[in-house]
Amino acid sequence: YRIAVFASGTGSNFQSLVDAARNGDLGASVELLVCDKPAARVVQRAHDAGVECHLFTPKNYASREAYEAEIIEVLESKQIDLVVLAGYMRLLTSVMVDRYAGRLINIHPSLLPAFAGKDAIGQALDYGVKVTGVTVHFVDGGMDTGPIIAQHPVPVQPGDTAEMISKAIHAAEQQLYPEVVSWFARGLVQLNGRHVTVNKP
Ligand code: GRF
Repeated sequence: YRIAVFASGTGSNFQSLVDAARNGDLGASVELLVCDKPAARVVQRAHDAGVECHLFTPKNYASREAYEAEIIEVLESKQIDLVVLAGYMRLLTSVMVDRYAGRLINIHPSLLPAFAGKDAIGQALDYGVKVTGVTVHFVDGGMDTGPIIAQHPVPVQPGDTAEMISKAIHAAEQQLYPEVVSWFARGLVQLNGRHVTVNKP
């Protein structure tokens, strides 16, 4: 089972997937990193892990559809089974979403549908929630709107800073994302409309 990770930033989730693959916990191999920011830390992580990179600079293309078509060629040439977004800071068009329908997932740092979009942790703090968390979901045409696969709560304590919550959220993400990918690798995830069933043995 072969996955590609799309990331734009630090890549701590990319790293947790690579580490889980190496330990045999993922049941899958990380075949490719797709990154729109050639200077991002995640590119160095891929290099260190020996994972192939597809780097691109969006402004060099006429449209989003144009660079996505190029990405799809790479994904198909590498026979990627699952596309895993991990801090990929670009919206996808229907070119990518339709081609990988049911095989395209994202992780978001809130309990969706609360606090979709950018700075979910800041939004949760400003709102004053007592619990936030992490969501893994299928990607559809909207912003963080696709069917939910798994969620994990993270409590917010009085006096917590964004930095403290961010740390707890990253820790939760690094547990949850490899586990969810392992479910896909074992064929346990079923999608019916908006409803996702995980058939754990
Ligand atoms: C994560 O918090 C993820 O939920 C969000 O972007 C962040 C990426 O962090 N979509 P990293 O680059 O994996 O460290």
